[in-house]
Amino acid sequence: MSFDKKNIRPVTDPSRPGIYIETYGCQMNINDSEVILSIMEDAGYALTDDIDKASVIIANTCSIRDNAEQRIWGRIEQFRLQKRKRENVIIGIVGCMAERLKDKLLDGYEVDLVAGPDSYRTLPELIRNIRPDKPQINTLLSHEETYSDITPVRMDKNGISAFISIMRGCNNVCSYCVVPYTRGAERSRNPFSILNEAENLFDNGYKEICLLGQNVDSYFWKDGENPEKNVNFSQLLEMIAKISPDLRVRFSTSHPKDISDEVIYTMALYDNICKHIHLPVQSGSNAMLEKMRRKYTREWYLERVRKIRSVIPGCGLTTDIIAGFCGETEQDHKDTLSLMEEVMFDSAFMFQYSERPGTLAARNFPDDVPSEVKTERLNEIIALQNRMSLESNRRDIGKTFKVLVEGPSRKNPEELCGRASNNKMCVFPDTIHSAGEYVDVKVISCTSATLICELARP
Ligand code: SAH
Ligand code: SF4
Ligand code: F3S
Repeated sequence: MSFDKKNIRPVTDPSRPGIYIETYGCQMNINDSEVILSIMEDAGYALTDDIDKASVIIANTCSIRDNAEQRIWGRIEQFRLQKRKRENVIIGIVGCMAERLKDKLLDGYEVDLVAGPDSYRTLPELIRNIRPDKPQINTLLSHEETYSDITPVRMDKNGISAFISIMRGCNNVCSYCVVPYTRGAERSRNPFSILNEAENLFDNGYKEICLLGQNVDSYFWKDGENPEKNVNFSQLLEMIAKISPDLRVRFSTSHPKDISDEVIYTMALYDNICKHIHLPVQSGSNAMLEKMRRKYTREWYLERVRKIRSVIPGCGLTTDIIAGFCGETEQDHKDTLSLMEEVMFDSAFMFQYSERPGTLAARNFPDDVPSEVKTERLNEIIALQNRMSLESNRRDIGKTFKVLVEGPSRKNPEELCGRASNNKMCVFPDTIHSAGEYVDVKVISCTSATLICELARP
């Protein structure tokens, strides 16, 4: 396999037709937009952040919850106004919502292009074939596509940390989740293309890489000829960690049913593998976990947490929680609260259950928790998490952390910000260091979201 060592920052050539890209959803979608830009640059386009000047306007969309889609519908309305102003502008809806709704997006919405997550290589051709009365659509899903030979063009502002997709799709079919339908079957990417991309980023000044997959623990590269050359996630992590001690490695998302002891020990072994695991629990009730088809129990989850904490003391642990899933009782909800207290997550993403058409839950279980009850339970979960985040941060007061500087803090230009290995955000007064440097800081106080620090004395 040959690799493209092309420029990883956007080309800035005002003579090229402009492409404007708006990204919704998860980190994988952010990385997909970088793949899209790479493909479109090769076809002669250049990124623009001025929607009024773009020849092509792309929304890379998310379907995970109804409110995500509603927000995007609002934006599509606004894109249509562009169409009134400039006849030739092309409006493209790509990503998960394109995959889910397919040609429904073409009915009366003045959209010219619909492309699913596995069809981005065909974007230039689709765009060439668009005529005023002939929109183009490609929502074929693939069992092979990993875009492994495409070098994403990085759109991040700081040039310090980047995402690398190591796999696509998902085979888990959790009953509430639309992802297996929008992103298709799970497939792992060639480890050497991942290594090459990481090395290239490091050579270009990047200091942190986050390996992405819906379930990174099931990453597996099968070498047809020589099984000894198969690569699992733990081995992949090690390959990337060995690039340089100055390159930090993160990853997301770990599935509680699959996270292995081998991965946990590998994390402990390398200083530059960040000590943070995002381990979505979804619910603390076994009845709910079973109905969600998560394939683990509360007890299994708690055992994994104990293992992580015994092998990696101080490991940051974060999670995702769904409130008000089908049939959730007051007791199920209390089980979630008690699990949260038992684990003491450092932070969490918390959601109300949102029924997604076509999923197993939508087909088999009534969405029967009243909306007010969902809201009440979610609020209780958020309040508890805020208390625990604050407590978790307070426990860090007095500790020293090595932070990778991301840049000036949002509130004060005399302050820098950056993350500690455990993923907590640190801010500290500093006018000497700059983005991309490692700095030792000491925690002096905190909020529930941030550690307030000072430079540690050597
Ligand atoms: N692959 C990851 C999660 C991807 S989606 C994993 O399994 O851990 C991110 C989060 O969105 C999920 O963890 C879940 O908490 C939430 N989510 C997914 N579908 C949802 C739905 N229908 N309603 C509410 N939240 C949902
Ligand atoms: Fe969705 Fe479950 Fe796959 Fe995560 S593991 S993407 S929640 S089906
Ligand atoms: Fe990501 Fe949303 Fe698709 S969370 S995988 S962009 S449905």
